Amino acid sequence: MCGIIGYTGYNYAQNILLEGLSQLEYRGYDSAGIALLTKDNQISVHKCTGRVASLIDLCSLDEVDSCCGVGHTRWATHGGVTKQNAHPHTCGKVSLIHNGIIENYYEIIEEYHLADKLVSETDTEVVAALLDTLYESDPIVAIKETVSKLNGSFAFCIMFTDQPGLIYSIRNVSPLVAALAKSGSYIASDLTALIPYSKEYFIVPEYHIITLSKTDITIQDLNGKFILPEILTVNWDIEAAMKNGYPHFMLKEIFEQPDAIHKTIAPRIKNMLPDFTDDSIPNSLFLNCTKLSIVACGTAMHAGMVAKTMIEPLLRVPVTVSIASEFRYEEPLIDKNTLVITVSQSGETIDTLEALRLAKRLHGRTISIVNVKGSSIARESDYVLYTHAGPEIAVASTKAYTVQLAALYLLGCKAALVNDCYSVTQANQFIKNLIDVTDNVKLLLEHTELIQSVAKYLTGATDAFFIGRGLDYTLSLEGALKLKEISYIHAEAYAAGELKHGTIALISEGTPVVALATQTKVYSKVISNIREVKARGAYVILLSCDESITDSSICNLHIPLPKTDDLFTVFESAVVLQLIAYYTSANKGLDVDKPRNLAKSVTVE
Ligand code: F6R
Repeated sequence: MCGIIGYTGYNYAQNILLEGLSQLEYRGYDSAGIALLTKDNQISVHKCTGRVASLIDLCSLDEVDSCCGVGHTRWATHGGVTKQNAHPHTCGKVSLIHNGIIENYYEIIEEYHLADKLVSETDTEVVAALLDTLYESDPIVAIKETVSKLNGSFAFCIMFTDQPGLIYSIRNVSPLVAALAKSGSYIASDLTALIPYSKEYFIVPEYHIITLSKTDITIQDLNGKFILPEILTVNWDIEAAMKNGYPHFMLKEIFEQPDAIHKTIAPRIKNMLPDFTDDSIPNSLFLNCTKLSIVACGTAMHAGMVAKTMIEPLLRVPVTVSIASEFRYEEPLIDKNTLVITVSQSGETIDTLEALRLAKRLHGRTISIVNVKGSSIARESDYVLYTHAGPEIAVASTKAYTVQLAALYLLGCKAALVNDCYSVTQANQFIKNLIDVTDNVKLLLEHTELIQSVAKYLTGATDAFFIGRGLDYTLSLEGALKLKEISYIHAEAYAAGELKHGTIALISEGTPVVALATQTKVYSKVISNIREVKARGAYVILLSCDESITDSSICNLHIPLPKTDDLFTVFESAVVLQLIAYYTSANKGLDVDKPRNLAKSVTVE
């Protein structure tokens, strides 16, 4: 949440900052701003509410001669969406940008009598005022003292008017990456902003002070000891973070799924069996587990729900799925025989990260399924199984979800094999089915016309229901989330058998119901449930593998799915549900990639 960029070097900073903010906008898009340190040691600030495009317009009126500056795109926490609350915040000699939340900002205002210095309602401006109060002549001393007073999460980029050409930075929890290139030094919330300038980067370590100059980046801990960073190399190209002809990132990312799934599973399959040797994950991790506990948020949590439904009957051990923000406060039953699996695209979701930390304190064995290399959750887990989806820019998660499913399926198969719940032959067949997913999804993506006609119907709807049983129910949860978050249509998912216990009262003439019927063992049951809603006037959109369905008493529209093993239909269903949401939102003319009130990578609790 919130995008941060800083640059100091040989080129004009303004354009670099604005380009960086355009790349980072998916992290927050309430307001945006830049601060430039001019050659005569003045801070020039431009900021406005709304999108980065408005900031670009504003800045085009006034090109500032500066090679050092910081930029920010905001997702509001403290204080409304106003120009005054937009970052950067300047106080005296200090100008800074911030991602995170300072929990004790009010106490700081009181203790240091800062109220008269403040013009905004933000926690961030309090830090600028505190830093300015504590600053005499040594930025390092003042930053150290300032952060020692702060409770909460933060990533700051700071400039001082009397420190020309220098940007200081420090973080706790909130992510930052940095890179030194020939053209200067760069720092940003994530790689998408750095990649045009450097393929080599490092993750800014927590509670270390970073000093960026045009020729150098130094890192020192709070005792003044300098360290060298671990340099990483980006394994994707700038092209991956561009739309490449697609109208929206979301559509592009939906179409990237066959490739993303292939890249995630292929390196972990040897002799048609799951193999985690290159991930340094030992088989012993899966032995003597009395419980599996999956913890995640939102879409990642929904991937966990699918995994539970798949893994529990296979291993015959309890598998729980927890919403990370609840897990932290429900005194979870975790011990050394519990395998705690955290799932996260960004690897920075604060609730998931804190849940992981709790699981470790309770001596759970931890493994994470994460997309972003070197992210906090990946680094803090005992083991990590990276997904290889590449950058996901659309706020609504799509390819990250299906690769999470693929990784969880591999993990389930591995655990079954290690615990003799699967024979080698069974595991071979499972892996074959998983490999086939790539082609099945590819095939499905060749014909989206029918799905587009479903979206036409949904475009005028105010409510929609998603129903299914077993794996199809877990998919329904994700289908409903996708539709509501980008189309603003109220959508709910229900276990199909549960409707008659209350929800069916909401069905009236024309109510759209997306029904999933891909699971053989509950097929006839779910068809009965579908008939029940159809009889009450629902407009039924059916997803099933039964090509012969023509019966208008069952559905109004049938989307046939390729016939596969029941466990593997989830991948195709997921893609159809994503496309339904996408086309509905696009038909409504909404900002598909940046839905209102949301932002990518939720680093606030
Ligand atoms: C919905 C969506 C969110 C994320 C959730 C967790 O489309 O993207 O629900 O899945 O915020 O994010 P990560 O996976 O980064 O932990």
